Parts: sequence; structure tokens; C-alpha cells
Amino acid sequence: MNTSTAKPPELSNSPVAAGKKVYIETYGCQMNVADSELVSRILAEAGHQIIEAPDKAEVILLNTCAVREHAEERVIGRASQLYGLRNRTPNLTIGILGCMAQHLAKSLPQRAPFVDLVMGPDSYRRLPQILADTAEETLLDLRLSRDENYVGIDPVRKVGTNAWVTIIRGCDKFCTFCIVPYVRGRERSVDSGEILRLVGNIAREGSREVTLLGQTVNSYEDGHMDFAELLRAVSAVGGIERVRFTSPYPRDFTAATIEAMAALPQVCPALHLPVQSGSNAQLEAMQRGYSIEQYRTLVKQLRRAIPNLALTTDIIVGFCGETEEDFQATLSLMKEIRYDSAFMFKYSERDGTYAHKKMPDDICEEVKKDRLQQVIKLQEQISYEVNQQMRGKIVEVLVEGPSKRQTKTGPNNYGRSPQGKVVVFPQQAAPNTFVQVQIDKTTSHTLFGDLVQV
Ligand code: SAH
Ligand code: F3S
Repeated sequence: MNTSTAKPPELSNSPVAAGKKVYIETYGCQMNVADSELVSRILAEAGHQIIEAPDKAEVILLNTCAVREHAEERVIGRASQLYGLRNRTPNLTIGILGCMAQHLAKSLPQRAPFVDLVMGPDSYRRLPQILADTAEETLLDLRLSRDENYVGIDPVRKVGTNAWVTIIRGCDKFCTFCIVPYVRGRERSVDSGEILRLVGNIAREGSREVTLLGQTVNSYEDGHMDFAELLRAVSAVGGIERVRFTSPYPRDFTAATIEAMAALPQVCPALHLPVQSGSNAQLEAMQRGYSIEQYRTLVKQLRRAIPNLALTTDIIVGFCGETEEDFQATLSLMKEIRYDSAFMFKYSERDGTYAHKKMPDDICEEVKKDRLQQVIKLQEQISYEVNQQMRGKIVEVLVEGPSKRQTKTGPNNYGRSPQGKVVVFPQQAAPNTFVQVQIDKTTSHTLFGDLVQV
């Protein structure tokens, strides 16, 4: 797909105006976080300086999400607020990057006329040239590529416990509600050699955990390795002690991937497995490509192979034609599977998707809101009960650092369990080390406990 809407700037070898202070703000999923790290490297290599706050910035870039309308409105609000900084920095450049740039390309210049550049997720290599351009009108660069995987660019990461590694870009599934295939383009896997090079560097820099990223991460196939083989290869990189991945697509799960997850001690027993709905009629309307029976069988296989597996999911309520019966089927499925936690959304119609073109958005806002409240309430209760079972148990925690949760007894530290749960404890522990924590208190989102020696 090529959606170029304006003449892109030519790539040239002419010297670019560098040395600008650039502030990047990131919205949406982890893939955007990883893309912002990529953009940071591209700009740093061109001589710019990435800064942590907007007030002294000469360039402000918002890396955006288009998955739901609400997210877009927030970004436009924030961009106009940041535009106020032009009083202090008259030559301030404001740019919109990412999915929303791609989605709203045509209307953005009207909705946010102060925006200087609009750039889709496959154009970041051209960012230094574009920043050097002094054009008066808004610059658009929205070409989607079939092969841009940003090979050779090591993202600038804050060295911490976890590092994100994008292994597959784009999406070819075209679920009827979803904008992602239109704004991120065709699915393509990053070469496994490049992934292993990046993971090797991450380990050398000191991170002990990697999370492999993609819209359908388990569809990975680069001509040398499939996803199961890649999991084995990444787990074999010295220094990497935890491997996570998100999000897998239920239909693309293979027996080999389940086997690899069960066999490899590095692969964490945590899986985000988006279901979207508990009703076959809705799954069909969404064109998800699996039935609830198939999803249930997959969960059984996974739980049999990985007994302590934490399962999380995404759920949409109020999608086109969702009857009360369909909705009840989602509630029943949640009670049956008992997810550890879930991201729950009201359906938000997105221009250009199949559902937008062919299916009426016929569930009224009141009903959508009510259904959302019901799923959230049910999931809170289930998460609470699931976490309560952890009381008294000892979990291995990879320490991340000081926790925002201050208790009466003073500051706390936090880290994550292998299941990905946040664990808070009062004792001192160095970031990026493993400690054992005995859990004594739990909420639906957090486990609390004390360090123990084992
Ligand atoms: N690749 C992921 C999904 C990416 S979008 C997958 O395998 O499903 C993240 C989540 O946003 C989706 O799982 C879905 O639950 C939600 N979502 C996507 N489009 C949406 C829309 N139009 N309205 C409401 N929620 C949506
Ligand atoms: Fe979206 Fe479906 Fe792909 S939810 S990201 S089209 S797997």
C-alpha cells in the first residue's frame, strides 16, 4: 500500500541542520514505545539531543495511536497545549508521528494547523532531512513500506530491567474493527540475525529481560526461523534471563510454540491472548478467524503445558450487532477462563475499516458504557480473587526500582514476578537483580510482601 499524500522530501547527502533539542512523547502500545526509542537513535545519530521535558525543546514529536477515537482527541488536545510553548521558543517545531499521523493525514492540517510535520511509522529514517527543511507548509511523509524494518538501528533504551524488541511490523489480519493494518501496513518479520544482534547488545548493556513485540508476534517467519525457533534462539543469548512477547494471535499459535514456552526456563509463564468477545457471532463479525471452542481448546493446551501460566486478554464490548446474548457470552467466557487481568474497550468506529464501510455502529453509547462497566466490574473481582491465591507464596521478582506507592512505613521498591505481576516490597534491593518476595497482601492489580532469603 502506498498512501503518499504529499511530495516527500528528497533523501540527500547535504548537511542537515542538527543539534536541536528534541522532546518525544509516546502514546498507545509498546510498539510505539519501541518506535520512539528507534526515532531517538535516528535523531541522536544526526546530531540532535533528546531531552526529557518539553519546556526547552526546539522540536516536539508526539508518537501517536489511532486505535480508538478517544486516543486521537487526547493527542490533538495535548499538541495544542504544547503549541503554547511557542511563546518561549518561536521556532518550535511540532510533529505528529505514528499511527494517527497515518490515519488523519488529510484532516490533521485543518484540525491542528500549527503542526509542522506529520509522519507515518515507516518514514522515520527521513526524519533528520525533514527537520532540516524549512518549508512553510506542513510536511507530510506517509509512505508505507513493505520492507522497512529499521535494520541496523539500535534503539536508544533507558537501561533497565526490560528492553522491547520489535520482531514483526504491520499486520495482515484485517479484523473488521481495527485500523492497525491501514496505518502500520503489511506484516513483515525482522531478520532473525538482526533480532539476535539487538538482543545480544541488550544483554551486554545489562538488561536481563526482553519483550518481543508485534501485532501478531507469533506469526513470525523470516525464512530461517519461525516463532518457536526464534524463542529458542533468543532464550539462548547469554545474560537474558526472562523472555516475554506480546501480542500473539490465537489462530497462529502452534504446538511448537507451546512446547518452546513450556521447555524454556527463560520464557515467562505469562501470555496476553486477545479474545475480543465470547460470542461466535461476534468473532465471525470481527473476522477473527477462530471460534470460541478453538480458543478454549488453545487455553486448555497452554494451561496443561504451562501450569502456572498467567493469562491476560483484550475485550471489546458494543461491537456492531452485539446482542445481549452475545454480551452474556463474553461475561461467561471471562468467568470460565478467569483471566489474571484484561484491557477492556468500548467499540470505537474507525474510518476506513471494513466495519466502518459495511457494518452499522448500532449499539448506542449508553449500552456500550453499561456493558463496559459490567466487564470491568467482573474482571476486577476475578483479578482480586486470582491474586489472593498468591498470599503466602514466595515469588521471584526482578527488581525495577523505587515504587510510587509510599506506605506508612516509608518508601517501597517494586519489580515483576515471572507472571508479569507488579510486586511491591519495603526492603532495599538493587534494580535489575532477582529477589524472593513472600506475598502477604494483594489487590486486584498488585502483590505486596517482604524479601525472604532462600
Ligand atoms: N494485535 C492485537 C491488537 C492490537 S490493537 C491483537 O492481536 O488483537 C489493541 C486492542 O485494541 C485490540 O486487541 C482490541 O481489543 C482493541 N481495539 C482495536 N480496535 C478497536 C476499536 N476500533 N474499538 C475498540 N477497541 C479496539
Ligand atoms: Fe488489529 Fe486484528 Fe491485526 S486486532 S492489529 S487487525 S490482529
